[in-house]
Amino acid sequence: EQKPVSDTAATKVTLPDAQTVNSVTHWTDRLFSFRVTRPQSLRFRSGEFVMIGLLGENGKPLLRAYSIASPAWDEELEFYSIKVPDGPLTSKLQHIQPGDQIILRPKPVGTLVHDALLPGKRVWFLATGTGIAPFASLMREPETYEKYDEVIMMHTCRTVAELEYGRQLVESLKDDPLIGELVGDKLKYYPTTTREEFHHMGRITDNLTSGKVFADLGLEPMNPETDRAMVCGSLAFNKDVMEVLEGFGLREGANSEPREYVVEKAFVGDGI
Ligand code: FAD
Ligand code: A2P
Repeated sequence: EQKPVSDTAATKVTLPDAQTVNSVTHWTDRLFSFRVTRPQSLRFRSGEFVMIGLLGENGKPLLRAYSIASPAWDEELEFYSIKVPDGPLTSKLQHIQPGDQIILRPKPVGTLVHDALLPGKRVWFLATGTGIAPFASLMREPETYEKYDEVIMMHTCRTVAELEYGRQLVESLKDDPLIGELVGDKLKYYPTTTREEFHHMGRITDNLTSGKVFADLGLEPMNPETDRAMVCGSLAFNKDVMEVLEGFGLREGANSEPREYVVEKAFVGDGI
């Protein structure tokens, strides 16, 4: 017996690669995070991204790339998302509620993984905006603290409110029963704003080239012998920060050829 296409319950169960939303947090009118069930078959390396989305009006999946913001050991999956007012996906995705379903293709990929870097003493996580998502995963990943003596998280946004997701995440690490002890005082968090007054301000590129971040944190300048970096932001940011890293003598690596730094776009589009 054939069910009518208008039967929404039937549509729900037939959603391909469906996962259920467990919780949603709105951080600003442009930013939210959410946690969903994790497919049993999904194995990923902290820092990787997957395709997620919703069923489009034409009945076809409308998918976009999203960094997994939770670590590989977590039993749920977390995502941190922009809300683009007229964005095909996020204009709808921003309205998800606990119990709703999203589509998640369980095929993780990406360059922001430990395997793509040569061993080092310090690792720099450099992010603007939602580019902090892969580092939300990597900051909660034990391997990060096993591989490095120091982990420096630089996150820059226009306003203080846009930093809040990252701030609360870093704050929570201390008391995390699984990873708190490993993190210890290895993690140095350096958030800055560029368009609102804050105790630390300025673009990541400027704070690196001026030496301000090294002075503020009491660290030696970057050096290709000891320092590794992972970069995630807009195309313009990535391009500029790569130039700065190259200036310190670091070279871009990949899964197939580990070197001193790796880069991934936080989104496609001008974003400048
Ligand atoms: P789209 O048509 O996809 O985008 C419309 C415009 O919005 C873009 O041209 C761009 O100018 C702007 N835009 C899109 N995404 C962002 C963003 N994140 N920050 C600022 N401006 C943006 N987005 C996330 O929110 N979180 C993630 O973890 C994330 N990970 C990504 C990983 C990769 C490898 C790539 C390539 C993209 C990632 N994105 C992420 C962007 C995401 O794929 C979508 O672009 C975003 O969800 C908006 O979808 P949309 O259909 O609403 O609008
Ligand atoms: P700024 O305010 O000086 O442009 P956006 O919201 O435009 O994606 O930017 C997010 C953050 O990244 C902002 O603080 C912005 O600083 C900064 N940023 C944007 N482009 C660059 C760049 N090319 N180099 C360094 N930082 C950048």
